[in-house]
Amino acid sequence: MKIALFPGDGIGPEIMEQARRVLDVLALPGLVLFEGDVGGVGYKRQGHPLPQDTLEMAKAADAILFGAVGDPECDSLERDLRPEQAILGLRSALGLFANLRPATMFPGLEDLSALRPEVARAIDLLIVRELNGDVYFGDKGTRVLDDGRRQGFDIMSYAEDEVRRIAHVGFRAAQGRAKSGGKGRMCSVDKANVLETSQLWRDVVIDTAVEYPDVELSHMYVDNAAMQLVRDPGQFDVILTGNLFGDILSDQASMCVGSIGLLASAAMGETQGEFGTLGLFEPIHGSAPDIAGQGKANPLAMILSLAMLLRHSLGREDDAARVEKAVAKTLEDGIFGGDLGGSAGTAEIGDAVLQRM
Ligand code: NAD
Ligand code: IPM
Ligand code: MN
Repeated sequence: MKIALFPGDGIGPEIMEQARRVLDVLALPGLVLFEGDVGGVGYKRQGHPLPQDTLEMAKAADAILFGAVGDPECDSLERDLRPEQAILGLRSALGLFANLRPATMFPGLEDLSALRPEVARAIDLLIVRELNGDVYFGDKGTRVLDDGRRQGFDIMSYAEDEVRRIAHVGFRAAQGRAKSGGKGRMCSVDKANVLETSQLWRDVVIDTAVEYPDVELSHMYVDNAAMQLVRDPGQFDVILTGNLFGDILSDQASMCVGSIGLLASAAMGETQGEFGTLGLFEPIHGSAPDIAGQGKANPLAMILSLAMLLRHSLGREDDAARVEKAVAKTLEDGIFGGDLGGSAGTAEIGDAVLQRM
């Protein structure tokens, strides 16, 4: 079992250290760890946010654990050299098109949600976000118009096969969740009232639904979805959406649960078995430059990303559950940091998880 660790920038190395301690306790047989530079660190050490040896390491791995990238000192570099290209480059070079972003209420955390406890209590949803297309990967640039004004542009598009393959992932996820108490529902979120891209998305999702008569499909415009997510998040089971909308809605969902420092994610490729093997696992948050180096970052999203890695790429359900239980118990015992109104630091939260494992 080869796991590539890419800590990255800002709080990335701080939270990765805690995930590594969890890995040490698990003592997986035959585990080999590699470490590579990504992001601003990659640029500063090797002249590129995704150095060639990092990419080779990723391709050779069974799974990738990714911290975060983003460095304010790199924000004026040309776009191809910016830290964010590391994560975008890995997702596209490895064909990791299916982003699973679960948001579930942890027992005892209801009072810390940005929502009222009785509203927050019911949160148990999975955002299935497409990751290789949309406005992220279309033609982009800045051009000068005839009258001398500069104009920026980013083309939004989806090909039907790109929509179909992510729709299958969403439907299968809804079926899988139904087996363990899920609602068997999928809500596809788009902006079909305005965007052609979204109309095609909706048409293809409806076509694909024929293969999944047991899943209750609905559609929602993204503006309404943003509102419904705070009005009544308990109505959602699987949310299927595109790259941009999924990015925004997942940060929003994190505050419904209580903190962006709690939400983990998996990026998976073509399916083998249920979700495929090679995957990249990372918190949904970024490098948090405002708190980097202060030992304040919440490492739980990182540790929960490791749990997703154990489950989805290594097939080690028992180990994944062991880690997730220890995280839930840590929160239930009131051990959390400033992001949730507490006072525990990064290492202290890591210690608490290790003790509970
Ligand atoms: P961010 O997610 O880094 O931070 C947003 C806010 O949430 C900040 O106030 C931060 O302190 C807080 N926060 C985030 N993670 C936290 C944690 N684990 N514990 C406690 N608080 C936490 O988003 P941003 O500030 O918009 O972006 C910062 C940089 O990160 C940018 O360069 C951006 O491009 C990058 N970014 C990278 C990724 C990624 O690597 N996948 C994701 C999002 C943003
Ligand atoms: C995320 C991030 C990335 C995205 C950025 C850093 C490219 O916000 O993983 O959510 O937009 O996908
Ligand atoms: Mn994001």
